[in-house]
Amino acid sequence: MISIAIDGPAGSGKSSISKIIAERLNIVHVDTGAMYRAIGVYAKSLGIASKDEEKLNSLMEDITIDVKLIDGNQHVFVNNQDLTDKIRTKEAGELASDVGTIKSVREKLVLAQRELSKKMSVIMDGRDIGTNVLKDADVKIYLDATADERAKRRLKDILLGGSEATFEEIKEKIIQRDYQDKNRKLNPLTKADDAILLDTTNLNLDEVVSAVLNIVSEKIKD
Ligand code: DC
Repeated sequence: MISIAIDGPAGSGKSSISKIIAERLNIVHVDTGAMYRAIGVYAKSLGIASKDEEKLNSLMEDITIDVKLIDGNQHVFVNNQDLTDKIRTKEAGELASDVGTIKSVREKLVLAQRELSKKMSVIMDGRDIGTNVLKDADVKIYLDATADERAKRRLKDILLGGSEATFEEIKEKIIQRDYQDKNRKLNPLTKADDAILLDTTNLNLDEVVSAVLNIVSEKIKD
């Protein structure tokens, strides 16, 4: 069994890259951001604010969170409710960043993530995978890109999806989210000492995939 940890800021391409690598290596992609998003969206549906620690603590005591592969795609269930279609909005990303600052949320999700990695070979992407969730991962990669480049990629996706947004607005949100994810007290986003930094600012998707596959084959060989 192998485990690959991919970390990096919002919009660095973690999920798209991890999905492709998972297919190439025939292993499972676990998108941990989706789990934080699902908790944020679920809490909101109950009227719980994304920074209300007390209410989130009691919510976390009662709920179940499950990750299942359906036709090769990850689905996230909270209390048996499939929230996969509801978590891809900008708002869900911000709710996720907020609930990700809460200890009880992180503890429950990290436990579930570690359980998944014990059962199968995974490529897991998030913010604290190499530094915390899978400290002993076989391969650790930290994907980065400038805020401008990440905002450009996000804008393209949003416009392709038929929604509207401006570059400035997206860049501002990305910078805010970076700040919260890098400066929270619990397991903030940071490169693990033993992670390989891959700056994707000037690379296209195929180039990043090749670079990641090279790193993986070098590491696995050892
Ligand atoms: O990767 P993403 O954009 O789907 O993540 C959404 C938010 O979830 C991110 O801004 C912070 C939080 N998150 C986290 O705290 N830890 C992780 N391992 C993954 C995501």
